[in-house]
Amino acid sequence: MRGANRCRGHLVILSCALSAGLLAVASPAADAATAPRYSPGAAGAGDPYFPDMGNGGYDVGHYDIRLAFDPASQAIDATTTILATATQDLSRFDLDFQGPLTISRLSVNGQNAAFTRSGAQELVITPPRGLRRGSTFVVSVSYGGVPQKIDDPALGLSGWVTTEDGAVALNQPIGAATYYPVNDTTDDKATYTQTITVPTGLTVLANGEPGPTTTHGRQTTFRWTMNRPMASELSMLAIGRYDVTRGVAAGGLPNITAIGKSIDTKPGQGKVFNQTTAQIIQWESSMYGQYPFDSTGGIIADVGVDYALETQSRPVYDQSTSDVDGDLLAHELGHQWFGDSLTPVHWSDIWLNEGFATYSEWLYQEKFNNVPVQQTFAKAYADEKDWSGKVADPGRDHIFDDLVYNRGAMALQALRTKIGDRAFFRVLTLWPTANRYGNVSTRQFIQFVERLTNRNLDSFFHTWLYQPGKPTL
Ligand code: TRP
Ligand code: ZN
Repeated sequence: MRGANRCRGHLVILSCALSAGLLAVASPAADAATAPRYSPGAAGAGDPYFPDMGNGGYDVGHYDIRLAFDPASQAIDATTTILATATQDLSRFDLDFQGPLTISRLSVNGQNAAFTRSGAQELVITPPRGLRRGSTFVVSVSYGGVPQKIDDPALGLSGWVTTEDGAVALNQPIGAATYYPVNDTTDDKATYTQTITVPTGLTVLANGEPGPTTTHGRQTTFRWTMNRPMASELSMLAIGRYDVTRGVAAGGLPNITAIGKSIDTKPGQGKVFNQTTAQIIQWESSMYGQYPFDSTGGIIADVGVDYALETQSRPVYDQSTSDVDGDLLAHELGHQWFGDSLTPVHWSDIWLNEGFATYSEWLYQEKFNNVPVQQTFAKAYADEKDWSGKVADPGRDHIFDDLVYNRGAMALQALRTKIGDRAFFRVLTLWPTANRYGNVSTRQFIQFVERLTNRNLDSFFHTWLYQPGKPTL
């Protein structure tokens, strides 16, 4: 449809036919006027906190990750195939790929392509011929070695983390490139297939829905598919010895949960974890609108990262974060709407994830533990010592700080007080519904609330989101 629209009218027919590749030979005159000027795609996607993350010039549609893991050597042997569309006439383009992995073969549209690696994470690819804007292309990268996790002083452990009995990959914000070549930016969402081969006896869990599992002697291959758009920071893999519980949430939604076998569990915990997940998904759907993915669940793993992560459709809870009690589940499952289905374009806007996820905890406390949200707010407001920093621009090293989580949730409760319950709960449903599977910004959120309430709330939002200092009530 879009192509047809662009090609309407006489004047544009020639250039349109050219850009669609319909004319094999053009006249020299037309050629001079319309010849593509191929240029390199940008090496970064423009995030001020992570300027090298992501790339320009193309848009990924699908990742097909085929990876074998050998726990004895801790090495992987993988081929990742990426289906993308050029958004400019491309002479070359970058993927993000970091660490010590070695590339053995790289092709674009089936032809070997030249590549170099530059800086910490740029994989610079020059295909044999330029890629026309609008054309789709396939990049296939074969590689192997021992992936190296990221240990960032401010952001903790992420990427490919080996464990006692396998490995867990947690990719927020910049871990994905430790084990697959990727356009590692929040605003290039894509679907995924992960086909993972491990020694028979180990289990593999990942985002989305399981495919067939096939065993050939000592090797077993698992397949997982995420068929809704997913940001790379929300992709996940868990390999190891797991007790898996398969259930269903409301509406027949597959609900797959797993707990690492090495973890000390209470009797029946696997079932409780599965059922609580289902219960919270149902409750949150009643507030936030239809659940955005085709399955749900969660994984309790002994990863040693000390956080839980809202990996798409199936959060991962580090064993150290358990009890894994209801409000943590409410937080990570709340992220499925706020963070996963809706994802900020820039990391400075992460309060749009964490503020709402923390608010989900507050709502959980009210619903299931009789602690009114206003009481939680009042306590947070009274106890907060540090009002420096801006909620909607915390700085690169502070994206996981209380500033974002607590003050983000406080801003939402203050908004609720300001616009009333009726309007506020409409925002909680309509904001994720209107932006389902998309990318969002704080500016958009403010505009959305102002339109919905027909009020100018600029100074309110300025005080709570953009200004350091304790707001007066
Ligand atoms: N975003 C995660 C959550 O709130 C938490 C998280 C991810 C985190 N990476 C981190 C917390 C690093 C501290 C440090 O659910
Ligand atoms: Zn969170």
